[in-house]
Amino acid sequence: MLERDRIEEDGTTLEGYEPQATRRQAADGESSRANRGWWDRNADEYQSEHGSFLGDDRFVWGPEGLDEAEAGLLGEVAGRDVLEIGAGAAQCSRWLAARGARPVALDLSHRQLQHALRIDGGPGKGVPLVEADAAALPFRDGSFDLACSAYGAMPFVADPVRVFREVRRVLRPGGRWVFSVTHPFRWAFPDEPGPEGLSVAASYFDRTPYVEQDEEGRAVYVEHHRTMGDRVRDVVAGGFRLVDLVEPEWPAWNSQEWGAWSPLRGNLIPGTAIYVCERAG
Ligand SMILES: C[S@@+](CC[C@H](N)C(=O)[O-])C[C@H]1O[C@@H](n2cnc3c(N)ncnc32)[C@H](O)[C@@H]1O
Repeated sequence: MLERDRIEEDGTTLEGYEPQATRRQAADGESSRANRGWWDRNADEYQSEHGSFLGDDRFVWGPEGLDEAEAGLLGEVAGRDVLEIGAGAAQCSRWLAARGARPVALDLSHRQLQHALRIDGGPGKGVPLVEADAAALPFRDGSFDLACSAYGAMPFVADPVRVFREVRRVLRPGGRWVFSVTHPFRWAFPDEPGPEGLSVAASYFDRTPYVEQDEEGRAVYVEHHRTMGDRVRDVVAGGFRLVDLVEPEWPAWNSQEWGAWSPLRGNLIPGTAIYVCERAG
């Protein structure tokens, strides 16, 4: 999930340098480069901090803990070819494989995929892994029945319609594409788990990307905001029909904070949006 919370109170980061957080434009290439570097540098920290919540072979859609086993948003997965985009350490793909699917786990970050290998016990022992950018999927047309992404590439790409068109291309007719992102509503609030994260501090309508940059002004981390309406239009422009939009509620059993996602905020405002789409035509 997203890590906008990782700047410590003294301004340093887990990696020791001091990026400057700002809102400014960041095109596709710059976003992709920045995020590949960020995930490579921070994959170890991410997996050690969140690995136990994610589980080695669990499919959770977001910090609320909504499980695909419970939600069934992908429909029947047994016997299906499934592409997981922004798979990280491929936890969701492992869950899919255990249910009889044939998953392929794709990620931009080499280090994240090394964690997938670690969990699998080495090359060739687990789900197939592919290192690639979601904007240029290295597969033939019509290779998959389903595609999914739990907070994978979509929060990070400047041109979501380009990704949707790629996903549509590699899906077979009628194929389902389900992805989760930070709920757009959250962009109006400070990225804080406590009460300070409950007061509107910015315009929901401001689509300017969140960027962290180094001393030379080079982006080292980028997140892109789309409003709810933007996402619906993007899905349609990308060649899909939107069949459901799920806003998981914070369950009573989950007392765990994940960055700015907390029981306090989760009980009051939505934290995750899951878009369930089907290939149109
Ligand atoms: C928040 S993690 C989610 C991973 C996994 N689904 C989970 O819940 O832990 C986001 C992942 O998306 C990947 N990612 C970011 N931009 C991407 C892109 N353009 N193409 C493919 N993967 C990307 C990152 O490398 C990272 O592993």
